[in-house]
Amino acid sequence: MGEVFAWLEDSAFSEAIRGTAYLYPILESIHIIGIALLVGPAVAFDLRLLGLGRQALRVTTAANRLLPLSHVGFLIAAVTGIAMFLPGASVIADRGSAPWKLGLILLAGLNILIFHRLTYRGVARWDVGRSTPAAARFAAVVSLMTWSGVTVAGRLLAYT
Ligand code: HEM
Repeated sequence: MGEVFAWLEDSAFSEAIRGTAYLYPILESIHIIGIALLVGPAVAFDLRLLGLGRQALRVTTAANRLLPLSHVGFLIAAVTGIAMFLPGASVIADRGSAPWKLGLILLAGLNILIFHRLTYRGVARWDVGRSTPAAARFAAVVSLMTWSGVTVAGRLLAYT
């Protein structure tokens, strides 16, 4: 794996990122905008699953309006994150926070998959004015915890 990381670091793409003034901080800034676009709408949807606005706002309306924004945010965070990872691949991959960040992103993805494949199928029964099922509230708590954890692990990547 070390050879792969060394090869990635020496690639023309990594050279270009290292050699372009201010590109790294620009990527960091866009990464944070992506995180805001991902986590903001995701938290709003999680709060709806936990009961906020239950009488007025349909879960399906919240999902249709908010989740596409989260998808765009994730795409922005992923593209900029990979661009920041490549020039320092072996150092960053060696940090203790790296497996936490990756693991928590995978856990967040698994939680989304289970929610949409199983729990969300029955949304017509609890779309508005009703308590959401325990499985939906559980998914919301897991989402809040995993995205917070990814954010902490992401910040720690710069240190340890
Ligand atoms: C999906 C693929 C992602 C990759 C490959 C990635 C990779 C990275 C890298 C390489 C850094 C720079 C670390 C450094 O300064 O040395 C970083 C920073 C960071 N990442 Fe990510 N990231 C991804 C997604 C996310 C997501 C989804 C979140 C939050 C929900 C996140 C939160 C952060 C935070 C808070 C920072 C610190 C930003 C700063 O202080 O400038 N990352 N990430």
